[in-house]
Amino acid sequence: MAHPTKDTLPIKERLRQIPSLMAPLPDIDLSSMPATPHEAFALWLESALEAGVKEPHAMTLSTVDEHGWPDARVLILKNVDARGWHFAIKRESPKGLQIEAQPMVSLTFYWPALGRQIRLRGEAVELPAQECAEDFLGRPVGSRASAIASKQSEILDNEEMLVKRLADAQAFLETHPAHVEPGWRVYSVKPTVVEFWQGSTDRNHKRWCYTASQDGTAWSTARLWP
Ligand SMILES: Cc1cc2nc3c(=O)[nH]c(=O)nc-3n(C[C@H](O)[C@H](O)[C@H](O)COP(=O)(O)O)c2cc1C
Repeated sequence: MAHPTKDTLPIKERLRQIPSLMAPLPDIDLSSMPATPHEAFALWLESALEAGVKEPHAMTLSTVDEHGWPDARVLILKNVDARGWHFAIKRESPKGLQIEAQPMVSLTFYWPALGRQIRLRGEAVELPAQECAEDFLGRPVGSRASAIASKQSEILDNEEMLVKRLADAQAFLETHPAHVEPGWRVYSVKPTVVEFWQGSTDRNHKRWCYTASQDGTAWSTARLWP
């Protein structure tokens, strides 16, 4: 009988062969973690960039739908400030409608080259219209046209319709370069809890958790079990 090759191995075996949390991973000194998750995030983001992590600003936004079912997708982080972690979406997309009905969301980053994960939970708050407009106008023209043309996440059963709506949107932007799509939204997630997770090859992972005070003005910190 022929030996199984990588092409014939059951997927369970293929998955078992894939390494995770490969050395060398950095160790962290928990006593030197900054006082706020904002500072810690900025430091870790720089480390990720230095380590060559691709798209470290890609994060998973988790929401729940009207039945309480979880939903999740990857978005780009656009800013971090005192108001929180920002992302930009279309209001009428599934995630936009989910956030309107239930603004409690979570954000998750994973940076494999460093074995690091960052998790945040908090309320998504819409930024003022002026900031949403600035974000929209700052996008490349192709992205703006796509945002205007796309019926995001609806069933697309007609390629011609997509091509036509895109061409129409592009033509429209040529004559209306200052147009701001009304449904464009930037949200900030003001976290109540932020966890920084440093994986270790010996599985003795280090976890550092920031919890906001009731009034949101101070942070307490704690180490978590791996
Ligand atoms: C790397 C990456 C970055 C993305 N960035 C965004 C983004 O910033 N905004 C956005 O609306 N969708 C972004 N998407 C697409 C979303 O993951 C998702 O497919 C889309 O927004 C529809 O989500 P929904 O049906 O839950 O509303 C990105 C996808 C990937 C893989």
